[in-house]
Amino acid sequence: MTATRRITKAVIPAAGLGTRFLPATKAVPKEMLPVVDRPAIQYVVEESIAAGFSEILMVTGRNKSALEDHFDRSYELENVLREKGDDVKLSRMESSAASADIHYLRQGDPRGLGHAVLRAASYVGDVPFGVLLGDDLIGAGDDLLGRMAAVRARVGGSVLALMEVPAEQISRYGCAAVEPTSEPGVVRVTDLVEKPAPGEAPSNYAVLGRYVLDPGIFGVLRTTEPGRGGEIQLTDALREMCGGEASGPVHAVVFSGRRYDTGNPGDYLRAVVELAWDRADLGPAFREWLGGFVAANAHRPPAGAGSRAA
Ligand code: G1P
Repeated sequence: MTATRRITKAVIPAAGLGTRFLPATKAVPKEMLPVVDRPAIQYVVEESIAAGFSEILMVTGRNKSALEDHFDRSYELENVLREKGDDVKLSRMESSAASADIHYLRQGDPRGLGHAVLRAASYVGDVPFGVLLGDDLIGAGDDLLGRMAAVRARVGGSVLALMEVPAEQISRYGCAAVEPTSEPGVVRVTDLVEKPAPGEAPSNYAVLGRYVLDPGIFGVLRTTEPGRGGEIQLTDALREMCGGEASGPVHAVVFSGRRYDTGNPGDYLRAVVELAWDRADLGPAFREWLGGFVAANAHRPPAGAGSRAA
């Protein structure tokens, strides 16, 4: 069946409003906020391609045309750079445009993540596929999606990525009840709750924004009633599949690498600092500056405009 087939399709839902990052996201899609020198969405697209999921459908919404522009050619800019002989910048421009086969679809009504994924049904067809949420940035080199696809190839069904989080944070995420499998780092998901109230979470395992899904999810999503927040939740459809009858089972890779929620201003800052720290080109000077800055300011209370809160 489809279990052993190599996965080439990915869906990237990118219709969210980005209200956690206002006013920056009033006129700019949250996916376009720069992390060091490229928009957050570019890391997600690059991760998808690196895992072999290079046929991408982005599910967008109103005010998201910057996403399409970013992954398109920009002949005017390219000509200017070519005339200046700036090959370095030119190659950066080209790599963002040429590396993937990206399609776009508007979500229409903003009825939740499950609805956004369901909108991809006719594009995906009857094959397993990846879903990458644009807010979640996973450390390069972790090959999380590759590991998830390998689990799917062995056991079929759908595969999630889970990360242990402190108890006080679990209500921000989908939360999974799990049981061990014979494979280290891989668990079987037995139940799921979307953003459980504090004290009601079945575990500290948070669902990350990476999924390898069986196409049977579409049939389940078609009958999934609106759940938390009045939205059609992907978590609720996966919960039905946990039982194993409806296109299950559901397994998960337990991830302990680096992950940032770039839709959250605090995590966004950490992402910028950590990724800049690791860069071969910008890193050395940045590390030196940051070390000096922290040493000089460790005991200084924040002051002036920089401390202004919302
Ligand atoms: C979505 C999912 C949630 C998951 C989270 C990961 O929530 O519904 O289950 O834990 O992504 O980032 P959102 O952050 O879109 O509200």
